Amino acid sequence: MSARPFLKITAPLNGLLAAVGLVTVAALTAREIGSTTRLSLELVLAAIWAVYVLQLVDTLIRRRATDDRGLTPELVIDLMAVVVPLIGFLLAGSPDQGLYCGIWLLKPLRHFTFFRMLGRVVARAAPNLVGVTSVFGIVLFGASLIAYLIERDVQPDKFGSIPLAMWWAVTTLSTTGYGDEIPMTFAGRVLAGLVMMSGIGIFALWAGILATGFFEEVRRQDFVRNWQLVAAVPLFQKLGSAAFVEIVRALRPRVVPAGAIICRKGEAGDQMFFIVEGRVSIQTPSPIPVELGPGSFFGEMALMTGEPRSATVSAVTEVSLLSLYSEDFQMLSSSNPEIADVIRRTAEERRGGAGQG
Ligand code: CMP
Repeated sequence: MSARPFLKITAPLNGLLAAVGLVTVAALTAREIGSTTRLSLELVLAAIWAVYVLQLVDTLIRRRATDDRGLTPELVIDLMAVVVPLIGFLLAGSPDQGLYCGIWLLKPLRHFTFFRMLGRVVARAAPNLVGVTSVFGIVLFGASLIAYLIERDVQPDKFGSIPLAMWWAVTTLSTTGYGDEIPMTFAGRVLAGLVMMSGIGIFALWAGILATGFFEEVRRQDFVRNWQLVAAVPLFQKLGSAAFVEIVRALRPRVVPAGAIICRKGEAGDQMFFIVEGRVSIQTPSPIPVELGPGSFFGEMALMTGEPRSATVSAVTEVSLLSLYSEDFQMLSSSNPEIADVIRRTAEERRGGAGQG
């Protein structure tokens, strides 16, 4: 039997271990703890370190199996989690040895896809972020220079040089305002007001750039996922690339659990559904319900006629669906009449009692 199941450490367990480890590191810095407590805390750190050695072994085995030779963030984090505390144990003096386990702060990051996304967002927004950061630098230096000129004679200990004035400029520009350094002159206070307002604008720009970057990244990911789902529906496979992009934007993915009702007979219907995966059952008047599977569609009759749903449709298995709303169907009909024709003909056949899927 493989040893890997015993080596594998799940993301929640990893987070828990890191949290326990870091609380232990923090506790070890308290001066008042006795030697027995200290020993127990150090044993906790040693136990967590041993678990991290297992995790590193698991990562190495997995990389060997997949013939992966690159230096991934996951490998770097697993290596550092083992090596840095070991260096601390070998080189540091007794009270500081545990501090090296602070590197475990990085451990939960190995599971977060969020950080990969953040990396992509920052990389894409880099030119704008650099632009706003440059504005920040210019305003910071300019404010320090003017504050130095205005306040140097009144408060030489706080504004006697540009580097000294820069501390005031940073706390004012970031609107932190510790209040340890404040301009005394009227001109200095006018300057402070202007710097604060610039700070608010600059931080709003940073936040706006990042928020837009995240929004675009999420949309891009949705688009790629929808693309794969739409490509699985045979009806759309003949579409040209422009029409395909149009339909990818129009269709909304949805997963329905087994047994759930997707639409009920008699309800108003403003959308139709394409089945990507799974099966649905349609309660037609005939004794045997009609079942539809991947590639089929349903819900088109209410959409085309404006009449209530003609039958109740439920999920036999978990179903992955793409829904198309009536306004998007109109758009699809005008740009791709052949697809609209197939849907229309199927609706007519079904209404005529053919009962075909
Ligand atoms: P609609 O009436 O909007 O909602 C229920 C759907 O079930 C209907 O559209 C059709 O897509 C589908 N449907 C109804 N009757 C049949 C049938 N006999 N065979 C296959 N599908 C049907």
